[in-house]
Amino acid sequence: MTSLPENLLSTLPEFLTELHQRYIDLDEGKVANYIPELAKVDPSLFAICIVTVDGQVYPVGDWEHIFTIQSISKVFMHGLALEDHGREFLLTKVGVEPTGDAFNAIILDEASKRPYNPMVNAGAIATTSLIKGHNPTERLNRMLEMFRRYIGHDIHIDMSVFTSERTTGNRNRAMAYLMLNFGMIDQRVDENLDLYFQQCSLMVNCQDLAVMAATLANHGINPITAETAISPGYIKDMLSVMYTCGMYNFAGEWAYRVGIPAKSGVCGGIIGVVPNQIGIGVFSPLLDFRGNSVRGVKVCEALSDYLQLHLFE
Ligand code: DON
Repeated sequence: MTSLPENLLSTLPEFLTELHQRYIDLDEGKVANYIPELAKVDPSLFAICIVTVDGQVYPVGDWEHIFTIQSISKVFMHGLALEDHGREFLLTKVGVEPTGDAFNAIILDEASKRPYNPMVNAGAIATTSLIKGHNPTERLNRMLEMFRRYIGHDIHIDMSVFTSERTTGNRNRAMAYLMLNFGMIDQRVDENLDLYFQQCSLMVNCQDLAVMAATLANHGINPITAETAISPGYIKDMLSVMYTCGMYNFAGEWAYRVGIPAKSGVCGGIIGVVPNQIGIGVFSPLLDFRGNSVRGVKVCEALSDYLQLHLFE
């Protein structure tokens, strides 16, 4: 059972509708365009969804619209890499330190030559490079099966976005070769980058985001299907890194204002996790200069205040 107070749960549908109305006319920000295919999104799209750990679903707005998951995928690939290799080995390849820099900064830890954390592009590429499989197809199928467990249904890759990323992803290619140089990833550079671009191009809707977040809130068990998506022992690792690094160079202010583990994506999605209570999904493609959804941040701040979600509340 979720430990959200009953009086807040009973008013949640009305509050979410009011919150959606409050920010629906907020048109600050720009849609991502450095991946050309992403620039085609309708900037007016806006959805919010909350899923409780006992499987109650509260969607509002354009929650059925599907979009590519982008960096939100990094959280779940971090979990899969932990299951494949364990905490200590993974730490030899990727740190857990926030950078204070942009998500696409081409920087490695000067001393260890590791990428700083699994949430920035460099760390995510290194993390994805560690996903086990005898060939690209096996690695892709392992990834798709993992996401299916979190979401509760099969999902697919948007091949237009995948191709657009693969064609223009030279900054990520530079990061990959820099990490190859220091032994942080293996020589399968193109295969590893393809898997990374595929994970970012997985199609989800806002309810899917909230179900994934609620699965993390529910000790790795999908609250809709009751299927185990991730060993519960790794939830602490995933939420810790989300809390300190998930919002990139906004992570400090996010921890101060919102105070829950979260992850953003240039698709305009944000997930928030409240352990033993709820998963939050927000989708609005208009991004601030850091690559976080403008409406998404506002909604999560308001939810944190209304539901008293802040870790130190
Ligand atoms: O590799 C990239 O740049 C994108 N596929 C993902 C970046 C992203 O979502 C950053 N999050 N705000």
